[in-house]
Amino acid sequence: MTRRSLPAALAVLLATALPAGAETLTITDRDGAIQSFTQKELLPRATDTVTLPDALYGKPMTYRVIPLKELLKDTRRAPDDYLAARAADGFTVPLPGRLLDPANAAEVEAFLAVEDPAATWAVLPDNPEKVSAGPFYIVWKLAGSAYVSREYWSAQLAGLKVVDNPVRKWPGHDVAASVPAADKLRTGLDRYVSLCITCHKLHGEGGAGAAAGPDLASAKAIDTATLKKWIRSPKSVNLDAKMPKFDDTALSDDDLDAMIAWLALKAGPR
Ligand code: HEC
Repeated sequence: MTRRSLPAALAVLLATALPAGAETLTITDRDGAIQSFTQKELLPRATDTVTLPDALYGKPMTYRVIPLKELLKDTRRAPDDYLAARAADGFTVPLPGRLLDPANAAEVEAFLAVEDPAATWAVLPDNPEKVSAGPFYIVWKLAGSAYVSREYWSAQLAGLKVVDNPVRKWPGHDVAASVPAADKLRTGLDRYVSLCITCHKLHGEGGAGAAAGPDLASAKAIDTATLKKWIRSPKSVNLDAKMPKFDDTALSDDDLDAMIAWLALKAGPR
């Protein structure tokens, strides 16, 4: 069928939609220099195939991939910088750059999966827009007890930007260098930095926003069950609570456990 034989309305729709393969991924380095890649350019570079248990699809999936460290090999960044992963809808998650360190490859590996317009992926489960995770999607291969947040599975990735490691500013929050890169404690810390640090200090370090809460150095005095209840729904513990609640879409059960493990290590007197 030729374009001309299509009904006019449909032809207009087709003309305004992006041609297959034209979607782009931008990469911004430490100095703000931007590179951009189209799906057409990246697909031929995705020569490896991996099959892994996919956290968003909830089943094993097979992808054509580029190792993320390979994609970023010419991008200026410090090894412990973070990468702000921005989805097409603007939602942004900071990915810890340490997870791309080749020294950790036996434990954790990150890949950019590239969707082939000729072999598209399934629609994401429970996705109201009925779209797949593509055309660009960050997926993770994990060994043994390695753990990364589900948030790090960045679907419909539109941009990666090198950003400062927030923990550098508040080193008291960090865990021992001997803790593996993909350990739960590190994810607990990452999630805390993303969600909590604007309002809470810990032993005097951290943010102090307008609606700031107490220094969490005292959190050890709260038992785990109450702490969980408090984070999920502050008003269920204290009717007058000002703190926002974090339900399981903001913080998964696994990430909450990871955060509490990290708090148990860090809060309380030192
Ligand atoms: C918008 C600001 C804000 C954010 C974000 C925030 N909190 Fe709070 N938090 C508060 C305030 C304010 C209080 C004091 C009680 C109240 O009025 O809710 C509080 C109280 C607490 C308490 C109780 C401390 C005590 O001694 O009773 C804990 C524990 C806590 N927050 C943990 C967290 C964690 C963990 C996160 C991230 C998942 C977080 N908070 C995010 C504002 C915030």
